[in-house]
Amino acid sequence: MIAIVSDLHSNLEALEVVMDHCEKLGVKQYLCLGDVIGYGPDPYAVSTIARKTFSASLMGNHEEALVTGKHRFNPLAARAIDWTREELGSRAEGIESLDWFRQRQPFVLKGNLLLVHGSIYDPVHDYVDEPENPVESQQMIDTLSRDFSGFDICFVGHNHTPFMATKLGIMVPHDGHRTFRVPKGHKAYVCVGSVGQPRDRDNRVSFATLDEDRLTFHRLKYDIQKTQTKILKAGLNRFLAERLGEGL
Ligand SMILES: [Fe+2]
Repeated sequence: MIAIVSDLHSNLEALEVVMDHCEKLGVKQYLCLGDVIGYGPDPYAVSTIARKTFSASLMGNHEEALVTGKHRFNPLAARAIDWTREELGSRAEGIESLDWFRQRQPFVLKGNLLLVHGSIYDPVHDYVDEPENPVESQQMIDTLSRDFSGFDICFVGHNHTPFMATKLGIMVPHDGHRTFRVPKGHKAYVCVGSVGQPRDRDNRVSFATLDEDRLTFHRLKYDIQKTQTKILKAGLNRFLAERLGEGL
């Protein structure tokens, strides 16, 4: 069984809940779709776990902003990434993490799985949005039919919202139905949601596991208040704490 995680955003309490749960499930391998850091209060601890545990970890737009200083972030995200750079730069292991982030790749192909942060067209910045009308659904079907070549399942982060798009329709997991079969050769975009900053109005951690053809979307509670307190103590903007409670 492999676990696919994304958008940890320096949230240690959320990551620890994921790791504990995955250990109980018997997860053998962790793949991370990027945005290990940014927004949250624990870049050092979260980066250290990522470096030691994940067998793949991608270049997300927050890693790119961290190591290049270039981005089109709103002021809150920009301030948080500058703070993250200062935090990591202030100690030896943090500097090793900065070097590690510099070496991240924008996509990884693992057998029939493609891993990206954004989309197959722009693996770092683009968003895979959940189709909202028949035109967008048709565009998604066209993408899956035309451009999913050389791989079957593309795992995506960045949008912080879990769902799966197939040629037959959109599947949104909920507490009554979290496991889907993805038969061999079936084309699918799988958005795993966010570990550290979910934005689908559900404040629980989100990630996915894949066991043969069984794809499961997981949601877990974590100590949000503890993370919120750390965000405020670090001097990061209050909104970054409040949104964790709202799942926004
Ligand atoms: Fe993100």
